[in-house]
Amino acid sequence: MPNSLQYDPSAALSLLPRGCVDALQPKLESARNEVAADVTLFESGSDVPAEKEPLDAGFIRLPQQLLEAVATSPATSQIGRIISTAVRLREEIDRVVLLGIGGSYMGARALFEAICHPWHNELSRADRNGVPRVYFEGNNVDSDAQQALLDMLARTTEAAQELASRWGIVVISKSGGTLETALSFRLFRQALEELHGADSDAVRRCIVPVTGETGKLRDITDEQGYESHFPIPDGVGGRFSIFTAVGLVPAAILGLDLNELLRGAADMTERFFTAPAGDNPVLDYTAVCHCWEQQGAGTRILSTWGKRLEAAGLWYDQLLSESLGKDERGALPVTVVNTRDLHSRGQQHQDGVRDKLITNVIVTAPNSESLGVPEFASDLDDLNRYSSKTVSDVMTAAIQGTNQAYAEAARPTADLIFPKLDEYALGQYFQMMMLATVLEGRLIGINPYGQPGVEAYKKNTMALLA
Ligand code: PA5
Repeated sequence: MPNSLQYDPSAALSLLPRGCVDALQPKLESARNEVAADVTLFESGSDVPAEKEPLDAGFIRLPQQLLEAVATSPATSQIGRIISTAVRLREEIDRVVLLGIGGSYMGARALFEAICHPWHNELSRADRNGVPRVYFEGNNVDSDAQQALLDMLARTTEAAQELASRWGIVVISKSGGTLETALSFRLFRQALEELHGADSDAVRRCIVPVTGETGKLRDITDEQGYESHFPIPDGVGGRFSIFTAVGLVPAAILGLDLNELLRGAADMTERFFTAPAGDNPVLDYTAVCHCWEQQGAGTRILSTWGKRLEAAGLWYDQLLSESLGKDERGALPVTVVNTRDLHSRGQQHQDGVRDKLITNVIVTAPNSESLGVPEFASDLDDLNRYSSKTVSDVMTAAIQGTNQAYAEAARPTADLIFPKLDEYALGQYFQMMMLATVLEGRLIGINPYGQPGVEAYKKNTMALLA
């Protein structure tokens, strides 16, 4: 299918013992059936057996459901309401502080970095098509960082009546009780309230909470009467929530095409449940990762090529770590950005311990015309011989050259190929990785949902503060 993601593991397969992946297929098929049964159980609303708790399978059919709802009632559907809030915000403010951490932040950042102009915040409002500047906070407790952002916002709000000086907050927390986000919300809310008055319509219009149906942020939202707010449905865990308001509100503010994003995700779900092995990126990726882990390659390098997919890789790092890093098991995800990291981690990947499977994430076509290599009268750097080439040609040669070097050293690689870097491709990617993580969990008997290990640090931190 044109514009579908392609997963090509041929180099990694050629280094595996013969028949390894074929032998796994029956188990993989039964894990896929289990994921399908999870969806049925989840949607039935019946009691979930203890060994399946928690069961956050709501993300699997969500993109399709959202698309159906918007097709039926464009204005009143959740997508319709998100888009009209984004349009309102774009008209009323020029800077948005996005507060959130973990699954309540990493997807939005991945979308921003992958799709928006790399210098988005430096562009004029006209060059940004009226899309506000975006700042990510609430993902740490770093006083210097928060102070710096508050200072910058205060300097720009000296002429508070002008649109270019007005700013707002999108605060995202499913539980509503995450310390990093809650503390940041206090700081930035205080600044906004000092600017406009605590009980003002201006504040009510420019704070947009995204939160669960219950919790402290929900209580604050009800008390303050913020004009726009969006729920995060039960049954969708934080790191699986990119296609809820958690990812869609920021995406809409950034002017992204929500329809294409959701269509990519829905198409990947359909492909996962219906396509055979060999043309099914979720099944094939899981099989190759699992077989290599059994060969001792428990470190999964996601090797992104170019500068725009680092955050999409870090999103996956969190997804895999929190989902399968349990019971002293689970692969170690590591995102790298090449060619940059060929000059840092590359040595280890080529010559270090044989515990790595490398998945290249490659975008076939650049979004703009590629720069040519300039020709100079004085050729002291010896680059005139490449003057018929473009920068993209150099990238392609680097990818091929690196894969070749790994193959010669019997280092396994696979390629995940994006025909283009757009909303449709990213929708497929996010859903592919979420489904693969859940499938692998079912395959190896680890519940991919929930993150009990994260609670320990929170408990200690609170106790020490008290
Ligand atoms: O995947 C998860 O559930 C976590 O990473 C959460 O997203 C993260 O801890 C933030 O939680 P909350 O949205 O409740 O503030």
